[in-house]
Amino acid sequence: MLEKIKQSADFIRSQVNDIPDTAIILGTGLGALVDHITDKQFIPYTSIPNFPVSTVEGHSGNLIFGKLGSKPVMAMQGRFHYYEGYDMKQVTFPVRVMKELGVNTLYVSNAAGGMNKEFRVGDIMIITDHINIFPENPLRGKNYSELGPRFPAMTEAYSKKLIATADEIAEEKGIRVMHGVYVGVPGPTFETPAEYEYFRIIGGDAVGMSTVPEVIVANHAGMRVFGVSVITDLGGKDVTDVPTHEEVQKAAEAAQPKMMEIMKALVERAD
Ligand code: HPA
Repeated sequence: MLEKIKQSADFIRSQVNDIPDTAIILGTGLGALVDHITDKQFIPYTSIPNFPVSTVEGHSGNLIFGKLGSKPVMAMQGRFHYYEGYDMKQVTFPVRVMKELGVNTLYVSNAAGGMNKEFRVGDIMIITDHINIFPENPLRGKNYSELGPRFPAMTEAYSKKLIATADEIAEEKGIRVMHGVYVGVPGPTFETPAEYEYFRIIGGDAVGMSTVPEVIVANHAGMRVFGVSVITDLGGKDVTDVPTHEEVQKAAEAAQPKMMEIMKALVERAD
């Protein structure tokens, strides 16, 4: 695994002059951030040794290097989901490569279903913590101490400092932001009403099919993480709406400008 990570990182270094210390995983709802990255350089996943290839509708696969405002960033356009059939090591491989390249701060975004009764479709939820419902942990198996500790703490998986800065930005811009716990599930089924209810009772505010694996690995690697969800549908025992992929995409697109404004300002302001 270490050799593979190094090979991928070496290839990227051979293509890019300045490697940033900041990375963004552009999930559903943040794809248009790409348009705000200047001096862009695209590296297709298919050209990077050992990189998995993205398959799902609505996600293209490129690493993008450039600047967001004045800040050099690298962005993942398209991520790897467990439900596509990738194993946890593949899903999180790009985060390992980021760390090898010197990235120390990771921003992630996703679309999620809301269980919190205060939430509305189109809300932005800053992720304060997560619950891992995936059947596996990406760190299962041999631990490479070069990559991180055997038993990493997850006490502050999402940086409190970045959350506070994002709150300041949202307030300045008059954008309603919620806080909450993200429940990471394997998918690809959306939840039954009983499952949404269950996830709410155990402490979840929103549920989605990504993010948790990458955040676990980023924390293992000692990176600072900020995560945000756009609430694209609502679920619970009394909710009869039927979520669809199209509806999720549409709601995410509608919330995109708010999400982008916060993320852009945060990346620039984070020190
Ligand atoms: N459940 C799981 N994943 C999701 C949802 C949901 O309701 N909405 C968007 N992604």
